[in-house]
Amino acid sequence: MCGIIGYIGSKEAAPILLQGLRRLEYRGYDSAGLAIQDGDTLARVRSVGKIENLAARAATEDLPGGVGIAHTRWATHGGVTEENAHPHTDQSQKLVLVHNGIIENYREIKEQLGSEHIYNSETDSEILAHLIGEHLLESTAPYTKEHLLKAVEEALKQVRGTYGIVVLHKDIPNCLIAARMGSPLVVGVGDGEHYIASDATPILPYTKKMMFLDDGEIAILTQDAIEIQTLAHELIEKEVEEIEWSAEEAEKQGYADFMLKEIFDQPTVFEDAIRGRYDVEEGVGKLGGLNMTDDEIKQVRRVIFIACGTASHAGMVGKYAFERLAGIPTEVDVASEFRYRDAVIDEHTLVFGISQSGETADTLAALREAKRKGAFVRGIVNSVGSTIARETDGGTYIHAGPELAVASTKAYTNMVAIILLYALQFGRAQRTTLATGQRLLNALLELPQKMNRILEQSDAIKVIAETYKDYEDFFVIGRGINYPTALEGSLKLKEITYRHSEAYPGGEMKHGSLALVDESFPTIAVMTKNQLYDKMRSNIEEIRARKGKVIVIATEGDDRAHELADDVIFVPETMELVEPLLNHIPLQLFSYHMAVALGRDVDRPRNLAKSVTVE
Ligand code: G6P
Repeated sequence: MCGIIGYIGSKEAAPILLQGLRRLEYRGYDSAGLAIQDGDTLARVRSVGKIENLAARAATEDLPGGVGIAHTRWATHGGVTEENAHPHTDQSQKLVLVHNGIIENYREIKEQLGSEHIYNSETDSEILAHLIGEHLLESTAPYTKEHLLKAVEEALKQVRGTYGIVVLHKDIPNCLIAARMGSPLVVGVGDGEHYIASDATPILPYTKKMMFLDDGEIAILTQDAIEIQTLAHELIEKEVEEIEWSAEEAEKQGYADFMLKEIFDQPTVFEDAIRGRYDVEEGVGKLGGLNMTDDEIKQVRRVIFIACGTASHAGMVGKYAFERLAGIPTEVDVASEFRYRDAVIDEHTLVFGISQSGETADTLAALREAKRKGAFVRGIVNSVGSTIARETDGGTYIHAGPELAVASTKAYTNMVAIILLYALQFGRAQRTTLATGQRLLNALLELPQKMNRILEQSDAIKVIAETYKDYEDFFVIGRGINYPTALEGSLKLKEITYRHSEAYPGGEMKHGSLALVDESFPTIAVMTKNQLYDKMRSNIEEIRARKGKVIVIATEGDDRAHELADDVIFVPETMELVEPLLNHIPLQLFSYHMAVALGRDVDRPRNLAKSVTVE
């Protein structure tokens, strides 16, 4: 949600900032802008729409200089206009600021600053720029970086809300000041140059050495030094971490879109997720990061998965798997609900927060609440060094690599993979037999080639998707452990095709929704060969009897599937618990191809952002 990139060094800043914005575009793409300092000049360029609009605008201007900040916006306060795009300036027009987050008391601050302040935007961010500028006036010019730091500190003391900011001043050479409260910032440590960004992806091509700011920290960057301190001006020794992700992983690598690439990444990243985290001989999952003693594991009487969006669907697979393998009552809570409903939690509760970005504000707040109430809180996270990863007392990275398309695909797969391994780990400590454990692991090990068999059908799925592109409404149904698959498939359809879609457990259709079915309202049904196969067949018959068109996801070799379906997509057979790691792939491809056929911007669907760091 809003992306920030800043550079200070001896290279030209403009190309680095533009390239960085392209990599951050998944965080917001309403508008973008950059500001570059060169000696005593300060240039600012902004534009509405995609980064390419900004790049085209920047190409017409001469933008020399090795210090700069840039921003890609996902609108919260104020519409999508050039005036509302960042960087914003202060009253003197010499200080520029980029901001991610929400300043809650911006009206109060505006009032306090008085009527002589002239604003050019409707944003809370511009008011923060003015506030810092006002505090700078308390020092005597010529200004130094110490003066700017003091002004930032003073201003932030007055602010309520969330922010990740980077500030630059025309008259203060060789200095970027960044501060974090609730919105992530990462410092990239180079040689004679430094970077600051909302996450690691735009920095990766230049350095893998990073420092992750925590809430309440300020970074002062110059070409040769990085100082980290608290808002109260106390210096902090910050560890420099090496990031394993490669820059290439954040490239499209010949695919038309990041989403298609990420769908095709799944067999490989799935292997990365499970590698070294199981023992076939013992039939057990071995996830080291749990940080719980055997006694503590035995104390767990209840598991809660907390997450938003796609990640919550992975949690729902976890409910089926934990209850079946470990016999532990398990719930899934949407984070935005959990945080306000005063949930009953005790020291026998194990809470898993699931998050691709590790920065989702609702998930983070819900996990803090669970921690406050005494639960064990663990993370299942993709982004290394992210806030959720650091605030939980243990957990597991899912190793999906950078996921840049807004609609999540490979991260979902790896979340499910890790959750199944956790379920097996707990299951073997409770009631799962060695034979079941081994069968599950062997089924997991066969998955990459089975996933490939589905991916090979991409062109055939495209033909089907194109046939259905003009339908406005869809049902996606599944039962048992395939119900979360239906929810996830339905979400993909909504997110990237903008078609109306609803997911239901197959058995629930007759309790109301069946009334909507007619020849204009097709259903996608997951009907693989498992214990609910016959039940699902009956549910599909009920839809057929109302003239509903049906696309069936069926198990290879199930010739009877054609009797029930207008179209069939076959998936390889696997153990029931493992089906959620295969059956969602045809649904991903269906949505993808339909979205392309409809001319949608697949990677950047309207109204959405990948990393939602506001409530
Ligand atoms: C946003 C994204 C979704 C994602 C959800 C949770 O809404 O658009 O794709 O599932 O946030 O994100 P997280 O990073 O916590 O998994």
